[in-house]
Amino acid sequence: MNKKMMLGGMLVTASLSLSAQNSATLTLHANEGKTVIPKEIYGQFAEHLGTCIYGGLWVGENSSIANTNGYRTDVLNALKEFKVPVLGWPGGCFADEYHWMDGIGPKAQRPKMVNNNWGGTIEDNSFGTHEFLNLCEMLNCEPYISGNVGSGTVEELAKWVEYMTSDGDSPMARLRRQNGRDKAWNVKYLGVGNESWGCGGNMRPEYYSDLYRRYATYCRNYDSNRLFKVASGASDYDYEWTRVLMEQIGNQMHGVSLHYYTVSGWTGSKGSSINFDKDDYYWTIGKCREIEDVIKRHCAIMDSYDPQKRIALLLDEWGTWWDEEPGTIRGHLYQQNALRDAFVASLSFDIFHRYTDRLKMANIAQIVNVLQSMILTNDKGGMVLTPTYHVFKMYNVHQDATYLPLDINCKTMDVRDNRSIPMLSATASKDKAGKIHISLSNIDADNEQTVTINLQGVKATKATGEILTAKNLTDHNTFEQPEVVKPTAFSGAKISKEVLTVKLPAKSIVTLELN
Ligand code: AHR
Repeated sequence: MNKKMMLGGMLVTASLSLSAQNSATLTLHANEGKTVIPKEIYGQFAEHLGTCIYGGLWVGENSSIANTNGYRTDVLNALKEFKVPVLGWPGGCFADEYHWMDGIGPKAQRPKMVNNNWGGTIEDNSFGTHEFLNLCEMLNCEPYISGNVGSGTVEELAKWVEYMTSDGDSPMARLRRQNGRDKAWNVKYLGVGNESWGCGGNMRPEYYSDLYRRYATYCRNYDSNRLFKVASGASDYDYEWTRVLMEQIGNQMHGVSLHYYTVSGWTGSKGSSINFDKDDYYWTIGKCREIEDVIKRHCAIMDSYDPQKRIALLLDEWGTWWDEEPGTIRGHLYQQNALRDAFVASLSFDIFHRYTDRLKMANIAQIVNVLQSMILTNDKGGMVLTPTYHVFKMYNVHQDATYLPLDINCKTMDVRDNRSIPMLSATASKDKAGKIHISLSNIDADNEQTVTINLQGVKATKATGEILTAKNLTDHNTFEQPEVVKPTAFSGAKISKEVLTVKLPAKSIVTLELN
């Protein structure tokens, strides 16, 4: 018996046959591409939290760890390789206690502060505006600055914008020049506060909307720089926050943010990043996929106020949130990253690609050593690329490519917390050179799936690519064994008469290029 159902935004035909049907059928609509997947969907976030900045991105010029003007050289190279389009900084919750003037000028004279949000660590401000914006230039990515609305003044934020972006003879531009930077930086994205409903000031949406209007007024466009101002948006299921901001701020914002974590709850244990069972894995997939419904519902509210989609939705924090690794500092949010996390990344991208008419950015939390990170480092010079890093790299072919719709017919499974998940997830795009890429995730932990893709008129004869899988879902990379989970060449795809057949091993993620 077959049943058609809408699972998320995608039409899934679920087979209810009791026999194990380890196959899926897809149809690619190669001529129906309308929207471009903005590269910012592959965005990153770096907060002054744990060892994300200090030890992760920055060790200082005098460190015994190999560095390029203070930035860890190994981390810099790994990031350059996987195309970072946009990087958020300095928080997170940290942003609403950050006073940017403490982080400029001679390092020895910069005042220290207590990082109250994250473990009470002493922050010496040696990584500040210059260090961040120069890093963005080195990575060739857009900076996304989060301004302090919670505990900072309008004047402070207005001057920060002037300091970074004014090229004229203005007081802040002069101060910047005194500090060694002649030319203004380009800063496009400006967050006006962060989580203003929580760590950013515990505000009500009406009050925040007024504050937004006031702060944003004085954040000027200097010279050729054009700011894209982002209002501090909702957490997960708080649709009322989005509604009020749309009503009260409307076109005075270019975008509104949203945060969604794959987390079991905010109190008690969140579960281990590496000690979990199959049931936990499938629960994770269900919770991760629920973001589609959340995006849809926020988008529907935005549509009712802004049918022309002038205001963007920016998912500027997402990813898995597990218990901190035993033995690490409380409040530093250091967690391992297993093959399961790789699925959260691939499935999230498959969803994000479908909503880029409104969703213009997504920043995973966070880039190094915090939550679902790309990279883990230690203070002995060790560096590990996580399974999530590998997914970002395998998927970077979709950056700025035209999204191609796919119909998916696959098995589904009921999982904990009354969710139903498909056993296959997929996405496709056509890049600027006309090359089609298809990414496929076989969610099934135990069974191979034969995937048949009707290419409908695509004249390709060969499909080549990479696969990411491992013996166990809990497998992960460590400083001692950094290559347990890494992509390898994939030879399980064949094309014959416009039909692509792929043999996907259990728990595997594949990206293919059609030639
Ligand atoms: O990413 C960690 C924290 O999660 C951020 O600081 C905050 O914005 C969110 O609650």
